Amino acid sequence: MNIHRLSTFAECEAALRNRDLKQALYDAGKVVMDGVLLTLHGNEHTRRRAVEVRVFRRNFFNYYEKEVFPQTLAETIAPYVAEGGGDLVRIGYRLTVNLTADFAGIDRPKRTPEETERLIALTKKLSEGATMAHSTRDPTELNREVAEALAALDAEFLQASVTRRKALLEQVARGEADESVLPRDVLTIILQGNDELELDEDQLLREIAFYLQAGSHSTANSAVHALHEILTWAGDDAARWARLDDPVFVQHCVHESLRLHPASPEAWRTATCPMHVAGAGEVPPGDRVELDLFQANRDPSVFGSDADVFDPDRVIPGNVLRSGLAFGIGLHTCLGRELDGGVVAKPGSDPGQAQLGIVPLVVIQMLRFRARLIDGDPPVPDMGTTRPNFGRFPIRFTKG
Ligand code: HEM
Repeated sequence: MNIHRLSTFAECEAALRNRDLKQALYDAGKVVMDGVLLTLHGNEHTRRRAVEVRVFRRNFFNYYEKEVFPQTLAETIAPYVAEGGGDLVRIGYRLTVNLTADFAGIDRPKRTPEETERLIALTKKLSEGATMAHSTRDPTELNREVAEALAALDAEFLQASVTRRKALLEQVARGEADESVLPRDVLTIILQGNDELELDEDQLLREIAFYLQAGSHSTANSAVHALHEILTWAGDDAARWARLDDPVFVQHCVHESLRLHPASPEAWRTATCPMHVAGAGEVPPGDRVELDLFQANRDPSVFGSDADVFDPDRVIPGNVLRSGLAFGIGLHTCLGRELDGGVVAKPGSDPGQAQLGIVPLVVIQMLRFRARLIDGDPPVPDMGTTRPNFGRFPIRFTKG
């Protein structure tokens, strides 16, 4: 098997849209990623995605962003504000594990800090398993830990969540309750559509585990990178700080940061048939094509000669997203893109009418409490992965 590397924006975009290239980044993380939406191909992928996307029916974004998330956000950061600060990586995980548990359909009946911590620990382990291709750990040891985390998720959280939803679905089917009693999450959608999908118990466990970890890892890291870029950009410049009072401007900052720090710095695909791939030439079946999304998102021919620099006012070509390829594109385009990134609002638009997105909402809240870095306690990189993320990001709130 040969490996071909693509690094321009045009090559990577074309490869992501090529339906004869099959997902390959998660082959090493099979224990948790085998047969989940992100690793499926062809008709199986189309069928699964068509069912799961139903979670977004009935104005889901507005419901989640305006009704559910503000409470989660306020509850989660209150203790940190009271203490005057904390580690933003931890705060981010606490927030986003609640987000993805809601979205995936994992109930947290006790609502205690211990329960959240347990779910975070499991989610982090599952995430470590999924991104095994970039891990610096011993694969055998990691595989064992991930299998244990999966079993614990099932016993401690998933079984009860399934039982509750099945009971509600039966009540609705018997006409004893209205559809509005049903939770708005992927698990409910799958249980409703399981005649179409026919997932067995192991597949269901991996699918829900995937939703739990995929969204939380990327959301938490994106919020941390965005705050870091914003604090560095604003520095001591009062005029720049004043601009950060505008939530729409913060949303643009977040998308610029997403461009510079894509949660997945690369995508891997395998050729399913002989084909021509721009940037790689003639590619036989079985060869791997690696897409360097980190470089593609810094391609000067698309983003300008200062593409490496954080510039929230950057002018982007009309057919390109502000976040570049950070959310992917084509058949595996991120399902959480609008939830997390919102819909990019025009400068000057009314923030009350805008769909800002979860990552911008988190960053806006951090800026409201005037989160700042701590002298003598700088952010430190995450050493457990080759992905360029922070392991600790200590902040203090300078406004209570
Ligand atoms: C800033 C946050 C996020 C980023 C940067 C991100 C990025 C991505 C990327 C790059 C892909 C495509 C991977 C590929 O083509 O190989 C993807 C797929 C996906 N993402 Fe996200 N994601 C984020 C948050 C979320 C959230 C919050 C959810 C769920 C609520 C989510 C659900 C998914 C799903 C289900 C897929 C698979 C889609 C498919 O295979 O059809 N993501 N994401």
